[in-house]
Amino acid sequence: MKGKNLLTLKDFSAEEIESLLRSAIDLKEEKASGRWRRRLEGKNIALIFEKPSTRTRCAFVVAAVDEGAHPEYLGKGDIQLGKKETIKDTARVLGRLFDGIQFRGFKHETVEELAKYAGVPVWNGLTDRFHPTQALADLMTVREKKGDLRGVGLAYVGDGRNNVANSLLLASALMGMDIRIVAPEPLFPDPVLVDEAGRLGRERGGTITVTADPDRGVRGAQVIYTDVWASMGEEKELRDRISLLKPYRIDGKMMEKSGDPKTIFMHCLPCFHNTETEISGKTPEICEAAEEVFESPNSVVFDQAENRMHTIKAVMVATLVGES
Ligand code: CP
Ligand code: NVA
Repeated sequence: MKGKNLLTLKDFSAEEIESLLRSAIDLKEEKASGRWRRRLEGKNIALIFEKPSTRTRCAFVVAAVDEGAHPEYLGKGDIQLGKKETIKDTARVLGRLFDGIQFRGFKHETVEELAKYAGVPVWNGLTDRFHPTQALADLMTVREKKGDLRGVGLAYVGDGRNNVANSLLLASALMGMDIRIVAPEPLFPDPVLVDEAGRLGRERGGTITVTADPDRGVRGAQVIYTDVWASMGEEKELRDRISLLKPYRIDGKMMEKSGDPKTIFMHCLPCFHNTETEISGKTPEICEAAEEVFESPNSVVFDQAENRMHTIKAVMVATLVGES
């Protein structure tokens, strides 16, 4: 995998994803046991952020430092990108100075352009279309909680066309899972992506269901996953989303629809769950998850958050030095 980019999970085969997951599990054990191999000694990592981040930023920084690399945070407003300088020129400059580049931002085309011209691995830390490093952490978490990924029923309930849903669709299909996207029709995923995921998943026997019916979508699911109703950059959609997505809120009744008391609750975070934040404090009806579910023993959201770091470390090690 040395030299590869991670722009979407289509960049990796099912075997490569398996290998990244195995590596992330080993790296997690290694860190817990206090062993340090510093595989990225001498490497410099650029972290470009057009949008805010807690998990992705911190996961890249901790993973880089654990492995002996130097991470450099380049926030919105810190660099010339897209203002005084084109993406193409920025890519060529950063590619001369850094060994790898993480990009989080709006247009997916920006991360593609960076990857085209940088000459070093580029990792997508979230665009409007995809969030592949999140999906890797999610696969790792499902594997830890449920064992073999093949055939595991994962119901993603909510905005079925956002970056997290798109990446989960590809990830689950590639790993032969039984992925259900449960959303109101106006928020169904792009049919082109559904077809693509279907083709990728065929080899491993993965199945894809897209439905507006929570009873049908959630029945038998071992995992129920949701995300915010309006992603970063879509704040003006919030009112419409609340009316569309209210019936899809994950509360105790929604969890019961799986018919399995061991069904786990997943969320990429940050999550509105009846707690007061600057935004949800003003409009509590935007909460996509009920407090009773978020704080329940079935909730594995903080395992997912931790696993962001181990999976990102595995991706950096594989694409920068080609070993784990
Ligand atoms: N899940 C996730 O990407 O979180 P951040 O926005 O905090 O990075
Ligand atoms: N869909 C969310 C994910 C945040 C990690 C967003 O793009 O805001």
